[in-house]
This record gives sequence, C-alpha cells and structure tokens, in this order.
Amino acid sequence: MSVADFIANNKDRFLNELLDLLRIPSVSADPKFKKDVFAAAQFVKESLEKAGADVAEICETAGYPIVYGEKIIDPALPTVLVYGHYDVQPADPYELWDSPPFEPVIKNTAIHPEGAIFARGSADDKGQFYMHVKAFEAMMATGDMPCNVKFMIEGEEEVGSDNLDKFVLENKEKLNADVILISDTHMISMKDPSITVGLRGMSYMEVEVSGSNRDLHSGTYGGAVANPINVLCKMIASMKDENEHITIPGFYEKVQELTEAQRNRLNEAPFDPDEYKEKLAIDDVHGEKGYTTIERVGIRPTLDVNGIWGGYIGEGAKTVLPSKAFAKISMRLVPDQDWHEIATLFENHFKSIAPKSVKVKVKTHHGGAPAVVSDSSVGYQAAEAAMEETFGKRPIPTREGGSIPIVALFQKELGSDPILFGFGLDTDALHSPNEHYGVKNYFIGIETIAAFFRHFRKLSGK
Ligand code: BES
Ligand code: MN
Ligand code: MN
Repeated sequence: MSVADFIANNKDRFLNELLDLLRIPSVSADPKFKKDVFAAAQFVKESLEKAGADVAEICETAGYPIVYGEKIIDPALPTVLVYGHYDVQPADPYELWDSPPFEPVIKNTAIHPEGAIFARGSADDKGQFYMHVKAFEAMMATGDMPCNVKFMIEGEEEVGSDNLDKFVLENKEKLNADVILISDTHMISMKDPSITVGLRGMSYMEVEVSGSNRDLHSGTYGGAVANPINVLCKMIASMKDENEHITIPGFYEKVQELTEAQRNRLNEAPFDPDEYKEKLAIDDVHGEKGYTTIERVGIRPTLDVNGIWGGYIGEGAKTVLPSKAFAKISMRLVPDQDWHEIATLFENHFKSIAPKSVKVKVKTHHGGAPAVVSDSSVGYQAAEAAMEETFGKRPIPTREGGSIPIVALFQKELGSDPILFGFGLDTDALHSPNEHYGVKNYFIGIETIAAFFRHFRKLSGK
C-alpha cells in the first residue's frame, strides 16, 4: 500500500486522534492546567510509540517535560529531527469563542470549504506537529521509511522555552540529525504554498510606573500630582515617532538593511492589500513609513503594548488617581538585533524618560533571537520538491513576523538549518478566539511531510 492510500484509509482515525489531543487543555502559562500539560506530554509519548518509535520517552525538565522519540532504520541513512510543541496559549477570553476552545468542532468556512477544526492549539501547534506523527506512522505502516527520524516535542514554547536550551546543550549527540523539520508557521495560501525562511526575535518587558504611596481623590489631588496611567501612556506614545519609527536610542543600530533587490523579491509574494484589510475589518494598515506590509512584518522590528492596566475598571465611575500603572510591552526583533541588548536599551531608555514625579520598574520576561534560514540547503530543496509534488506549485520563500526562539539555538548548537515547514494560514486565528486549522491543510501536510522524507533521502545522496 502507498503512503497516500494508507492516509486515505485512515482519515477518520487520523482526525479523531488529533481531536482527542485538542481536548487536553495544555495551557503552559497557567498553573491551573498543570495536570493537563503533563497529560498532553503522555499523549504525545504514547502516540509516538503506537506510530512505531523504538524510543519514546518523557524527559523531565525544571518545567514541563520534553517528549523525545526516535526510529533509527539504519545509521547510514539521513536523520530528520522533528521539533514541535504540545503546549498552547491560554484560551481567554472564553466568551469570544463560538464553541468551547477545548471541545473541538469541525465547521466549514469561506477559506476552508472542506472544514476546519476549531480548538485552541488546532493550528498552533498540535495540529501541525501531529501531522509528523501521522506521516511517520503512515511511512512505517507501509514499509516505506526513507530516513531515520527523531522527535523533540516540548511543552513550554508558548512561555519562552526556558528549559529547552539546557536540554539541547546536554543532548547534542542524541539530537544529532541532518535536518530539523518544524511545522509551526504559515503558508501564503492553499494555492500559494510557501516556506518560511525568516522569523523575528523578541524582547518581552513589563513596566510599573508608580506615583503617590496610595490611591488619591482625583479632585483633591488631580492636576497637582502625577497620574501614573497618564504618565505611562505618554511614555509609551513617545517611544514611536510620527513615522512609527522607534525612538529608543541604539534600537536600530544592528538592524540588517536589505538590498533593493532583496526587498523587491520579498514584495513579489502574492499579497492583496484590500483582502488583507477586509479580512481584519480595518480601513487602513498602520506601520513604519517607507515599508510595505510584507516588509513591516518580515524584516522590520517593532514595539507593541500587549496589555495595560491600573486604576478603576469596575462598574460605574470612581474618581481616583491610581498610585500605580502597568504595561506588558514586546519588541519583535530582526537580524542582527540581540534580544538581551535590546532589553537593556529599553530599560535604560524607559527609566531615562520617566519624569521625576514617578518611579519606574522594568522587568524582562523572556526573549529570543531572530532567525534567517537558507533557501538553498538540501533540506530546503527537499521541502520545495515535496510541496511542488503535493500542491502542484513551487513554493516561494517568505519571512514571517512571529517568533520561534529555538530556531536560532538549533542553528548555533545543532549546526543544521531548520526547515520551517508550516501548513497553517495567517487567518487561522492563532492565540486568538476561534483558532482553527483546515482539515485539508492537516491531510496535505501529512502527505507533504512523507514526500519530504523521500526527497530528502534522494537529495542527500545517502
Ligand atoms: N507558532 C508560533 C510562532 C509563529 C506564528 C511563527 C505564526 C510564524 C507565524 C509560536 O507558537 C509562537 O506563538 N511564538 C511566540 C513566541 C514565544 C516566545 C511566546 C510568538 O511569536 O509570540
Ligand atoms: Mn507555535
Ligand atoms: Mn504560539
């Protein structure tokens, strides 16, 4: 039986198993779900065993475990290392979901006429890494396993992969592979397949601005004492100028400028600005002057407030000058910005612009390096050939705005270029209510991954 036939014959089971995985609320950010995160790790381990792994183990870390699995067919064959994450983002706000986030349902949408699976983690990243488990199973079951495979599926990606560095550094031999495959990104569309070759990095900060030692009556003191929320808003606003250029001194110093030719090539990717606006229900885009939307997301750094709070937000009106205000601020970075350096620049600048009437505290949450991967490696060529086979169209390289901090670590420590082999769409609503993943994307992904193994074996000449 061919791999394609095996997939076709097991369609319902392949789908139902993913739905079972999606029912586990493995939210890594919230300790309330601790048991569930461990349960998801167990699920992954068992699914690797059932698919045919010789080794499937739960590797404890100081945080959530890393699931490792492998099948070595023949040490002389090339080895593929698959990375993914079984943890998910919090589902909040729950009330904005049309169906409960951990009770997956399949519904048709305009973009997914064959149906999409609605659940937290469906696209990011359970539906995507699980394609690798099923492709592995299909190759094993049909006796057509062209390469060795190793799996490293972690449970802390959504909270900064704090314990992964150590695991990678301590297990270089175990993780040794000829290529790393990661399905945790997007393609342009089902008719325009693409392979991601760039991801942004990140420095994630939290700030606290405090004024008086207690909340104050806003009549007795308003106008005479600093209001930390007003001050914080002004400080945040000042960090971008009228061209949306970030004003932190030194912020752009290490930013790689692309050549005109490189920029033109990026902008050749299919992109319809009207469709983009329409899908988001916005009347205009917004960003750094002199750059296109593709460039603003792919090759330019940015600074965004993710959350801001303080003062009275209950029912009705309370007249008060709050004593404190807070914000969570992230900066997306591009090569060659260093996230530690940017965090320090931010901290120094934020403190320097604070008026004497307030005190500020700045904390660095987590961060990660930006990454650019080759579009000519053997792995990339195999991915290109695999996609061309299943989509009937040669994929183009794109740069995405999201972050997968471990990509840079893999490049540095494991010495092989990761292939960002994502099958999601940017309309899949990652991190948002009603996250979904196309059923067709899931199955074409499984097939394309199996094709990758075949092409990679052939192209690597082993
Ligand atoms: N899968 C995403 C990253 C991503 C999404 C890359 C879309 C390209 C396109 C990943 O799970 C993620 O959400 N990463 C975080 C960073 C992390 C350090 C919290 C992100 O980008 O916010
Ligand atoms: Mn992800
Ligand atoms: Mn994510």
